[in-house]
Amino acid sequence: MLIAAIETSCDETSVAVLRGNEKNSSVQILSNIVSSQIKLHAKWGGVVPNLAAREHVKNIIPVLQQALLSAKVQLNQVDLFSVTNGPGLIPALLVGVNTAKTLCYFHQKPLLGIHHVEGHLTGAFFDNYSTCKITPDDLPLLCLTVSGGHTQLIYSKNFLEYEIIGETQDDAAGEAFDKVAKMLEVGYPGGPIVEKLASEYLSEHGHSDTLKLPRPMLKNNNFDFSFSGLKTAVLYQWENQKNSAPEQALVDLKKQFCYEFQQAVTEVLTKKTVAAIQKHKPQTVILAGGVAANQTIRAALQKEISQNIPKTKFLSPPMTLCGDNAAMIGAAAFFRFQKLKKQNKLESLLQNWKNLPTLANASINAKLN
Ligand code: KG4
Ligand code: ZN
Repeated sequence: MLIAAIETSCDETSVAVLRGNEKNSSVQILSNIVSSQIKLHAKWGGVVPNLAAREHVKNIIPVLQQALLSAKVQLNQVDLFSVTNGPGLIPALLVGVNTAKTLCYFHQKPLLGIHHVEGHLTGAFFDNYSTCKITPDDLPLLCLTVSGGHTQLIYSKNFLEYEIIGETQDDAAGEAFDKVAKMLEVGYPGGPIVEKLASEYLSEHGHSDTLKLPRPMLKNNNFDFSFSGLKTAVLYQWENQKNSAPEQALVDLKKQFCYEFQQAVTEVLTKKTVAAIQKHKPQTVILAGGVAANQTIRAALQKEISQNIPKTKFLSPPMTLCGDNAAMIGAAAFFRFQKLKKQNKLESLLQNWKNLPTLANASINAKLN
């Protein structure tokens, strides 16, 4: 079967075409076009929802055409359309959802709404050859989703059923990376820049012991997170130290803040995830979301797992699929479609061209279709 997928929940306009193999339950990417709006939002230091929506409107048809062309697929050959219908920025989501609805109305095809985080989680099962397969041996699984909008520990015992066992009480980890970069005036989006400056600090100085930032909620007996206090600690310490530092030392001081901030985030994420693994004993642990591109966080979690819980399989998406993209949405749609088919529940998907809701704050357990 051929699947077309659309993702416009934040600042990437993305369309993918995938081929699902129902016999062996795997799905392959034929094309995955991502048009990023980073430059547009950089001057505001964050994503401006209405600007994002306007840009999605401009880009969605050219991106769709490019995805079809590069997959060598015609629109009327697509068997299933899918779209991220939550959570995300409403003006941005609506562009993708309305495009998908129009295509489904016109071509009389089924439409499946996909939760953005289910997309990220599924994306971790792609191999480097663009094929995604999930087997019963992978379950139960535990997923640490870390992005600009989410920091959650999700446990899944049964296929496509989820329980949130811990989450941030305030900012998401990616948002904290972005805000810290803004405070230090090092650029946007913060994640990759903070990572680069942190690694420069490490190679120039080794470990930092003259700056200490808090590790929020590390000692709490639960799997929740908090990053706003860490962000405020950066703000106060930075304001305090930058005024007394000589001009020529400021660049180095910024690198030190990036290093220590990244260390604090890494330690909290890793220790909490390891505690959750020890309690829930999953077969597979997943690191997903935009922040999963961070090599320090990836390596720390992988090392902790291989040293302390070596029988647990560790997965994170190929680097090209860490950020928002439509391929992960199309893969999630393929597995959901298969499950609905087994349950004889495909009928309503043909009515989704008019019925599919758009949900800004949907939980991963919400009814999305
Ligand atoms: O999943 P994503 O592309 O969009 C959302 O669903 O939010 O995640 C974007 C977030 C941004 O906050 C960005 O700064 C962060 O992921 N990010 C990183 C890195 N690359 C992207 N954070 C830390 N290190 C990175 N290398
Ligand atoms: Zn995302």
